Amino acid sequence: DHGYGPDIHHVLLSEQQIQDKITELAAQVARDYAGREVLLVGVLKGAVLFMSDFARALQLPTQMEFMAVSSYGSSTSSSGVVRILKDLDRDISDRHVLVLEDIIDSGLTLSWLLKNLGSRRPASLEVCALLRKPDAIKVEVPVRYVGFDIPNEFVVGYGLDYAERYRDLPYIGTLKPEVYSD
Ligand code: PRP
Ligand code: MN
Ligand code: MG
Repeated sequence: DHGYGPDIHHVLLSEQQIQDKITELAAQVARDYAGREVLLVGVLKGAVLFMSDFARALQLPTQMEFMAVSSYGSSTSSSGVVRILKDLDRDISDRHVLVLEDIIDSGLTLSWLLKNLGSRRPASLEVCALLRKPDAIKVEVPVRYVGFDIPNEFVVGYGLDYAERYRDLPYIGTLKPEVYSD
């Protein structure tokens, strides 16, 4: 596990559970978008592993775009301040856009992003999020596809970071309390 083992308190979702869920989500999306070309918009950096596995699981022709926004800084809770660090390279008007997010925590990032992308006149705009924390939601966001609803605990791995670390873990877990105090 990349040497992170000693920092991990508990594995919440194993690599197998994540991959099985992605297969399931991709099948659902393939049915719903049959005959259409999907433009996947990955939200950097957290969604990068999810994007990569999801695009391979999805049996449809897709194109990929990335947008980088940040709300957390390096701490563990949302500030509500969203910054565009990298915008899309292309016009999304008349495209079927599916936003891929690793996690919906307060919902602030996605709420802002949907408003922003919606104003660019896509043919359709939906969200597929691997994780959601129902108890942390501050603003409701319409999310068509959700992998797992999880408890309101800080999690890392599979794209999710703490101070930029742990994104490369293939599973999702919680950190030991002493890791935060270092
Ligand atoms: C994290 C996560 C989501 C967002 C969720 O990204 O990847 O994008 O926060 O939080 P919210 O629902 O409370 O807005 P972060 O801003 O940490 O950037 P990163 O993806 O580069 O880690
Ligand atoms: Mn993110
Ligand atoms: Mg982060």
